[in-house]
Amino acid sequence: MTFIKFPDGFMWGAITAAYQIEGAWNEDGKGLSIWDTFVRQSGRIERGETADMAVDHYHRYPEDIALMQELGLKAYCFSISWPRLLPEGTGKVNPAGLDFYDRLVDGLLANNIIPYVMLYHWDLPQALQDKGGWGERSIVDAYSEYARIVAKRLGDRIPAWVTHNEPMVISLGGHFTGELAPGIQDPFVALRVAHHLLVSHGQAVLALRTELPKTAKIGIILNITPTYPATDTDEDRQAARRYDGVANRMFLDPLFKGEYPADMVEMFGPLFPEIRPGDLQTIAAPLDFVGLNYYMRAVMHYDPDTPILQASQVFPPESEYSQMWEIYPPGMYDMLTRIQADYHPKEVYITENGVCVPDGVDFDGRVRDVRRIRYLRDHLAQVGRAIQAGVPLKGYFHWTLMDNFEWAFGYRMRFGLVYVDFATQQRIIKESGRWYEKTIRNNGFDPED
Ligand code: FCB
Repeated sequence: MTFIKFPDGFMWGAITAAYQIEGAWNEDGKGLSIWDTFVRQSGRIERGETADMAVDHYHRYPEDIALMQELGLKAYCFSISWPRLLPEGTGKVNPAGLDFYDRLVDGLLANNIIPYVMLYHWDLPQALQDKGGWGERSIVDAYSEYARIVAKRLGDRIPAWVTHNEPMVISLGGHFTGELAPGIQDPFVALRVAHHLLVSHGQAVLALRTELPKTAKIGIILNITPTYPATDTDEDRQAARRYDGVANRMFLDPLFKGEYPADMVEMFGPLFPEIRPGDLQTIAAPLDFVGLNYYMRAVMHYDPDTPILQASQVFPPESEYSQMWEIYPPGMYDMLTRIQADYHPKEVYITENGVCVPDGVDFDGRVRDVRRIRYLRDHLAQVGRAIQAGVPLKGYFHWTLMDNFEWAFGYRMRFGLVYVDFATQQRIIKESGRWYEKTIRNNGFDPED
C-alpha cells in the first residue's frame, strides 16, 4: 500500500475528560460531582479507587501542555467540570474554577494548540442530582445557564464547542445498568434522561449561539455502534435493527431529523418519556459538526429472554479483543459512511478512538505499546477510506492523551499515548505517542511502517 495522506488542515488531536484527569476534587471551592459521591459508595469502583487525585492535571497542566506540544498536537479537547464552576450547579460562580480553565486555554493557545471544549463529560454537580439530576426537567435550564457562563468567559478564545459526551452512555450506563454515576437502575428514568439530555443540548446550542462569536462552531459527541446481525436470518436482522435503534437512531434521528424513530416509540411503549410541544424542534437545532466516538461494533442475535430488546450481543471468537472490547477497524468506515448517507452532517470529527491493552515500562524506561500502534494505524486507515468516500471528516482526536481514571475500572485500564506512573505522577511518552507525532508531522502515514 502507498502512503495514506490526510487533507490539508486536518485537525490532529487528543481528548480527555475532567473527572478522569484533574484530581483536586475538593480544592479551591469546587463543589461535589456525582462521581465524587459514586466512587465513595462501596463496590462501585474496582479496588475502591477514586479520582480524588487522578493524574493531578489541575496542578500539572503546564507539564501536560508541554507533552501535547511534544506530540505535535494541533488541537486538544478537554471537558469542564460543572461543579468546579458552579459548586451548587446553579447560582453562585466559583471564580477559582473559571480561572483554572482560563489558564489552561491561554496555555494551549500560547503553544499553538487549538482548544476544543466539552461542556459535559459526566460529572454533574451532586447538588443537582439531589434534585433529580437528568431525570428532572428543570435540569434543562440549569444546563443552558451553565453553558452561557462558560461561553461568556472563554468564548473569545475557543473556536469549537461540544455540548454533551455520549448521551446514550449517560442514559444507559448511569440510569439503566447503573454501572456509572449516579448508579440508578430504572428504565423510566433512563429514557427521561435521554430526552432531557437532548433537549438540554438543543437549548444550550441556542444559548451558545447568542453568546459566542459567529465563527464559533457547535456540535455534540455521540458514541455510535455499527450493528451487524449474527446470521442472515430475519430474526437476527431485526434484532440488530432494534439494537441500532437503541444505541444510535434514538439520538441521531431527533438531532438530525427532529423525530424519534417510530419503531423505538412502539418498542418502548409506556416507557417512552413525555415530549413537550417544541421539544423536537429544540433538539434539532442546526449543528456545525458532529463528533463520533468509535470503539466497537455490536453483533446481535435474536434473544427472546432479553426484555423489550429481545436481542443480545455475541462476541465472534475469531476477532481480536482489547482488555475491554472487540477490535474491529472496518466498523469505523461503516459507521462514518452510514451517518453521512442517512444524516448528512456538515462536518464530522472522530472525537474518541483508542484502546486499552496491557502496556508497561521496559527495562530501558520506554513503553513499547506495539498493539496500540497497530490499532491506531488500522483505524486511521479506515478514516482515510471514509475521507476518500466523501465523508467531510475534519479531524481525529485520540482517546486519550494520558493514562487516567477509567470510571468503574479505576486505574487498571490504560488508554493513553502517554504512560503515567500513578504513584509518582511521572509521565512517559509511549511508542504510540511517538508514532502519532510522526503521523501528525507528515499529515499521514505509511501503512508498512
Ligand atoms: C468513552 C468515554 C471516555 C472513556 C472511553 C474509554 O465512552 O467517553 O470517557 O471512558 O470511553
